[in-house]
Amino acid sequence: SSSLPVFSHDEVTKHRSLEDGVWVTYKGGVYDVTEFVPMHPGGNKILLAAGGALEPFWALYAVHDQEYVLEILSKYKVGELSAEDLKKQGEAKESDPYSSDPERHPVLRINSKKPFNAEPPPEILTESYITPHVLFFKRNHLPVPQVDPASYRLQVEGLPRGALTLSLKDLKTRFPKHTVTATLQCAGNRRSDMNQVKEVKGLNWGISAIGNAKWSGARLRDVLLAAGFGPDVAKWARHVHFEGLDKDVTGSAYGTSIPINKAMNEDGDVLLAYEMNGEDIPADHGFPVRVVVPGVVGARNVKWLGRIVVSAEESSSHWQQHDYKVFSPGTDWSKVDHTSSPAIQELPVQSAITVPADGAQIDHSDETLTVKGYAWSGGGREVVRVDVSLDGGKTWQVAQLRSGDKGQPDEPSPPPGRSWAWKLWELTAPLPPDADELEIICKAVDNGYNVQPDTIPPIWNLRGLLNNAWHRVKVKVT
Ligand code: HEM
Ligand code: MTE
Repeated sequence: SSSLPVFSHDEVTKHRSLEDGVWVTYKGGVYDVTEFVPMHPGGNKILLAAGGALEPFWALYAVHDQEYVLEILSKYKVGELSAEDLKKQGEAKESDPYSSDPERHPVLRINSKKPFNAEPPPEILTESYITPHVLFFKRNHLPVPQVDPASYRLQVEGLPRGALTLSLKDLKTRFPKHTVTATLQCAGNRRSDMNQVKEVKGLNWGISAIGNAKWSGARLRDVLLAAGFGPDVAKWARHVHFEGLDKDVTGSAYGTSIPINKAMNEDGDVLLAYEMNGEDIPADHGFPVRVVVPGVVGARNVKWLGRIVVSAEESSSHWQQHDYKVFSPGTDWSKVDHTSSPAIQELPVQSAITVPADGAQIDHSDETLTVKGYAWSGGGREVVRVDVSLDGGKTWQVAQLRSGDKGQPDEPSPPPGRSWAWKLWELTAPLPPDADELEIICKAVDNGYNVQPDTIPPIWNLRGLLNNAWHRVKVKVT
């Protein structure tokens, strides 16, 4: 490194655009990352650090706290920062923006601490039909905002009558309380298996970035009607935007949008929820109000809801336009055009095996083997069957489905098109004789007869989203 030039802070600050080059500093090194900008998985946000230090931004997005990220960065090193300027940077060090995040249960498997992203162990996930909030996966992009319920205000904007401002009490008293059992799944659920096929960029989720809860709140439809939504608005309105109160360093909030027909449909069941499983929504899950968009990807279920906007256009936010989109397996980071794919909304049919775990040992003297898991489909489509194979897909048996806890009556069946909740399934079958290893597979079918693809390669995509290939686990019989 002694052969590299030394730059002053002033010199670095001159490189703040694609035209002048994008330079950043990190721990005393100077990097010209201009060529990396179009390949950055976090999009244009990288430009925020242009001309200065990466550290305060990476403290906010600790997804960068990985060896391979530093390897990428090292390729772009062009020099050293002068010792004097490095010292000044150290003195201006930011405090930890995550210091007020809530406590979490240690059983959760952490994919990223800051922001907090974690999932429960699979074998616990399917022990209860309703996922307790402590065990529910947590997917945060930013620090958890602290919201005072007394001064909380929700803004509803974009309608001809002007903005409507609602307090938490307004939401609870002016609109009927509606309860929906709905499964929430992150688009990155099962990404780690996709990563095994070929490297993808994103948090390494296992199979538990999914959970099922009872959500209660006001219907979005009722709130929009109260704010002045009517036939004239229906002529031009196409999307409803949601903005969270979690803001990044530039003050821009987490945000997304959903189509207006989902928002206004009486059978769409979109909620501005203030309760999860009969209690106030916990801090990690969006206290005091989150949007619940049943049947739609987790990313649209905006937590810590601050603002709703009715619009003719989709949200322009990073998470609507530059993330949560899927491309052809042949598309790589150098070719990706985010305008070429639509934002993910309804999710495809999904299932996974939670018991036994991959790599588990089965006793050869056991007469039977019990396999358990979950199955769910987006868009209100009901899972009608789960097939399980104990021999790598040669023969199949039908698993038993339930919509309640084991030994308890099922929840009443929802009307067609409103199956928002998962089904838990179980199969107990004779242990195949003379096998020393079993490949167990599950696959679900929904009421549109949609099926899961058998392998990952045809659905591989650079961000590792929507992995719904047959789930396979291998167990040893000893
Ligand atoms: C994600 C590299 C700067 C914001 C990522 C990922 C890589 C990366 C490899 C994917 C990580 C993963 O999910 O495994 C870099 C490099 C940078 C840089 C080499 C050097 C200049 C920045 C800056 C910001 C930023 C300055 C913010 C101001 C993000 C965000 C994500 C991301 C928001 C997406 C996280 C998510 O999945 O939600 N970056 N990054 N990055 N980066 Fe950067
Ligand atoms: N809402 C806000 N305001 N900020 C976020 O980071 N993450 C989204 C969504 N809503 C997010 C958000 C994503 S990607 C998912 S998968 C779900 O919240 C996760 O919800 P959970 O943490 O309650 O499981």
